[in-house]
Amino acid sequence: MTKILVTGATGTVGSLVVSSLVGAGRDVRALVREPGRAALPTGVEVARGDLSSPQTLESALDGVDSVYLMWPGLPVDPRVVEVIAKRARHVVYLSADVTDLDDDEPATIFHQDIERLIRKSGASWTFVRAIDFATNTLGWVDQIRQGVVRWPYGQAARSLIHERDIADVAVHALTTEGHYGARYVITGPESITHAEQVRIIGEAVGREVRWEDLPVETARRQLVAAWGNPAFVEARLEAWRAFVDSPERVTDTVQRLLGRPARTFRSWAQDHADDFR
Ligand SMILES: NC(=O)c1ccc[n+]([C@@H]2O[C@H](COP(=O)([O-])OP(=O)(O)OC[C@H]3O[C@@H](n4cnc5c(N)ncnc54)[C@H](OP(=O)(O)O)[C@@H]3O)[C@@H](O)[C@H]2O)c1
Repeated sequence: MTKILVTGATGTVGSLVVSSLVGAGRDVRALVREPGRAALPTGVEVARGDLSSPQTLESALDGVDSVYLMWPGLPVDPRVVEVIAKRARHVVYLSADVTDLDDDEPATIFHQDIERLIRKSGASWTFVRAIDFATNTLGWVDQIRQGVVRWPYGQAARSLIHERDIADVAVHALTTEGHYGARYVITGPESITHAEQVRIIGEAVGREVRWEDLPVETARRQLVAAWGNPAFVEARLEAWRAFVDSPERVTDTVQRLLGRPARTFRSWAQDHADDFR
């Protein structure tokens, strides 16, 4: 049986990729930085490795056929992709909704650099380009508990995706044929406004939660203080502003690949109700 290396195996998507592969009886090796601290399902082989240090990956890649690769926002190191491509036949990369770049175009986000490196690496590849995760709304936990969410652009309509759908698509790409060279943009099944997301979370938790539109200037100040990256904050604000006029797109990729619709935001909120209580 072919061995699959899962990076980010303790993370939101990677942990689901691991459990799903193990459940399907696959031979899984999990890459973790601290094996002693990683809680992984029985049957998973654990390998120590660090994506910021390519030489630590060599033994973890021994005998591996395919890799689920996520990039934890580190500075991009082309040697990591080289090491992986030298040993693995197929790389399934968790990316974002990015555009392809030519050789000499500067990247605006690290996913574009990693994708470009993978495309040129010689390995077969599949890009799972996920729209923003529904788990990002966990950033509202404190406000939800207090009964009011103050955030900008209440009418921005997003097609957030359930992390289980991302993992399901990645596992599908890792375990079935026909995905080489595919760039799968995956979204939730509908776009839902920020204010509506909050109402749905409130219903799942069993309490009324109000929405209050935060003035953009106040939001900018607060988000820069919280996230520490003015360019990222500006990009987010601009995207949300645009989603007020044009709701974020919805793709049918999950349905096409998995033969069932993507999970709704309501089902995500029900799955995570305890996280908000
Ligand atoms: N959030 C979104 O809306 C969104 C949308 C599209 C794409 N993405 C992308 O999704 C990815 C994040 O995926 P996720 O949410 O599943 O992960 P996550 O929950 O953020 O977990 C991060 C994982 O990275 C591992 N990690 C951190 N530093 C590492 C290192 N130096 N070497 C090896 N492993 C390391 C951690 O493992 P240990 O700490 O156990 O070692 C952990 O398993 C990012 O690339 C992000 O850009 C996110």
